[in-house]
Amino acid sequence: MGSVRPYGLSCDHRATPLGTEVGTGASAPLLSWRLSGADPVACLVEVDGLWSSGRLDDPAAIGVRYAGPPLRPRTRYTWQVTLWAGDGTSSTARSWFETGQDAWTGSWIAADPDTVEHVDPPTEGDLALRDHGLSACPQLRRAFEPRSPVVAARLYISAKGLYEARINGHRAGDAELAPGWTDYRRRIQYQTYDVTSCLTEGENVLAVTLADGWWSGFAGFDPRRPGYHYGTFPELIAELHLTYADGTAEVVATGPAESVATGPAESVASGPAEVVASGNGWRAGRGHVRYADLLKGECHDLRAATTGWQLPGFDDSSWSPAVVTGHDHAPLVPSPDEPVRAVRELAPVSVTRTGPGTHLVDFGQNLAGRVRVAVPALEPGARVTIRHAETLDAAGRLDTANLRTADATDVLISAGPATVFEPGFTYHGFRYAEITGVEHPGEVTAVVLHSDTPWTGTFECSDPELDRLQRNIEWGQRGNFVSVPTDCPQRDERLGWLADAQVFLPTACLNADVAAFFAKWLRDVRDAQTPQGGFPNVAPRLSGVAEEGAPGWADAGVLIPWHLYRVYGDARFLDVDSMAAWVDFVQRHNPDLIWRARTGPHYADWLSPGPATPRELLATAFFHRSADLTARAARIHGRTADAERLRTLADDIRTAFIKTFASASGRLTGDTQTGYLLALAFGLLPPEWTAPAARRLAELVEEHGPQTGFLGVNLLCPILSEHGRDDLAHALLNRTAPPSWRYQVRHGATTIWERWDGAGAPSMNSFNHYAFGSVGEWLYGGVAGIGQAPDSVAYRELVIRPLPGELTWARASYESVRGRIAVAWERAGGDFHLAVTVPPGATATVHLPDGQTHQVPSGDHTFRTTEETTA
Ligand code: BGC
Repeated sequence: MGSVRPYGLSCDHRATPLGTEVGTGASAPLLSWRLSGADPVACLVEVDGLWSSGRLDDPAAIGVRYAGPPLRPRTRYTWQVTLWAGDGTSSTARSWFETGQDAWTGSWIAADPDTVEHVDPPTEGDLALRDHGLSACPQLRRAFEPRSPVVAARLYISAKGLYEARINGHRAGDAELAPGWTDYRRRIQYQTYDVTSCLTEGENVLAVTLADGWWSGFAGFDPRRPGYHYGTFPELIAELHLTYADGTAEVVATGPAESVATGPAESVASGPAEVVASGNGWRAGRGHVRYADLLKGECHDLRAATTGWQLPGFDDSSWSPAVVTGHDHAPLVPSPDEPVRAVRELAPVSVTRTGPGTHLVDFGQNLAGRVRVAVPALEPGARVTIRHAETLDAAGRLDTANLRTADATDVLISAGPATVFEPGFTYHGFRYAEITGVEHPGEVTAVVLHSDTPWTGTFECSDPELDRLQRNIEWGQRGNFVSVPTDCPQRDERLGWLADAQVFLPTACLNADVAAFFAKWLRDVRDAQTPQGGFPNVAPRLSGVAEEGAPGWADAGVLIPWHLYRVYGDARFLDVDSMAAWVDFVQRHNPDLIWRARTGPHYADWLSPGPATPRELLATAFFHRSADLTARAARIHGRTADAERLRTLADDIRTAFIKTFASASGRLTGDTQTGYLLALAFGLLPPEWTAPAARRLAELVEEHGPQTGFLGVNLLCPILSEHGRDDLAHALLNRTAPPSWRYQVRHGATTIWERWDGAGAPSMNSFNHYAFGSVGEWLYGGVAGIGQAPDSVAYRELVIRPLPGELTWARASYESVRGRIAVAWERAGGDFHLAVTVPPGATATVHLPDGQTHQVPSGDHTFRTTEETTA
């Protein structure tokens, strides 16, 4: 038998998080683990001698909600889980989490906005920056002297805008684009950093650079002046908590008062700091970051550098006192997910001199991030410009037409000496960069940025083009999970469109552990829900985008929580009130249950290359799906009356759907692929009409190839194979003519394109849009065969059903919330070999291509059959 071993311990879906919510009850943390070895029979969780779950005889448990006494703020808790196997052996693993702030003594400060210097473009005429009113990035510094050696230090920090914080020149943490994007009117995130090692005796300096970011910079496609969406200039809030060896503590905070708390270190946690002195010690100045904007780009003028300002001893007497802004602001909450980080670097595949002082760099990969370049000594005032693009034009120059108003241009103005230039407060979507102004650039590197979601999936097979497709899907996910799930990283859009996220989510969950990332974003979605219950089209909400969501977009407010619950088993994803408010909203405005009214900007089956799916059919299918899933969510939370009411509603919508759009032959109004896909996937048809509808879908696919837009594409291969047409699903994967996935691969795609054929008007032709990459779910689930039974949660019951098509081998692995799942199959000499790994506590139904079915427990299993099909 052997023992069971817990690993991958996490608190609220993150390993050892610093600065968690200080919560009990609904916000009490979930302490969870993955499993290896034997099946568990029981578990026990203990938190720091404070709380014990008691032995729970639950063989399915992979997590327990903390239910002990209230947690204190700013406190590290160690915890452990002990698991028992059936043979009585046990095994224990330990981890920790640390709570964040409960209240702030600091307040918001800024460089005096009245003295803000609006920056002209470095050279008139050549950059479209003149009217943008971009301003030099404020630098804020605060010198302080700890009164004795510091044994622990934590920095709690946030900005309206973006910040980069240093203590004595050492970077605090490694978060990029922090504090991340939220609707800053509703909620602002802060980060917590362990900065103990940055502190020294004597004078110390906390130094922060601020930039506009999403708060006061350009965001989305609205060309209006900053200030339109959220704010007008960046602001800072920070508290540095110092704990001394003698057990006392001190707080260096932003704000009007210098705050010092005394008492045992533990009690730093337990009350507001005692204010013993007043006077704002923060000084504000401007330095070499002349402007920084997410869409426009960033300019460093090294002639204006204030060398040493981040170090002790700098004379800041010419700087101005920072001002306390005192604006009302939204609650500060600890960020619940891993931040954006610089996760990897790519060297160019080529650097080509294209003219005097001009080089074209090809990184061989479309990505989101920025370029770092070593710049040799130049004349003071000489400019180096980096422009970015996804593609080249026919003449081999950067093609920036699809960036719209996103200039994506970074500028360095040299002070003379050699330097390394890398912007810090912007990012671009690009494969190519053009560097001008330097005859001999030094090392050039692409720095890849994205929300640091732990990678969980691998897929490879005998067809290199499908492998490339999988890589493209992965890169699409990396490039678009940047604080929020965006539609694209390059043009002046980069918005958290709900449908894009909804269709891609199942694929995203296989590639990476996105539980914490989506927990954050679902707060954005709920923050954007209208008082009437309407979910939005984009989250975080910003000005200029229709508030009420379209069918399939707004419904993501229900579909995404449901899928996350099924994958991660955390019922907190299911906010029944919010989900039910949405369903009730649609029902209220559509009493006959055909969703015609309040469809927002109804985007229909967006970017479908085929005949239009009737809008009311499409909308009503999603209305049913939302009602159906909300009924299930209500039942899971024990809300029986709501569950019954919503179940009846879902049944009634289905009846109305059938009556209005379906006929006994299984034909649907409009006769479109997406119509059939939605009806089949959402269980909208009477059982006897299902087979004819599936046959009609297959006919349409055979005749035309894929004709779905965003709202059907994720269902195409899964539904065809569910109805016995995996041959057709493979035929779609093998198709090379547009529309097809392989067409993109054969035309050099390194990410997924916005349009099937990559041939739209430049303004709507992104080469990094992940929606059509939602076929990734079928690569894992169909080709390799890793799936979850329909009623299973958290991969308790697996369905392993490889669908080999013409391939000779495939392998996939998935680090599920329960533990490792792996499938590897190959064909050899007329035999089919299959190896399967089932995690502890799970069972699997294994379907072999010859029609045999096996029920297997956890562990490693191998199967060998002949290729002949008995089915
Ligand atoms: C975005 C899409 C989005 C759509 C709404 C586009 O501009 O790029 O991905 O879902 O608008 O139809």
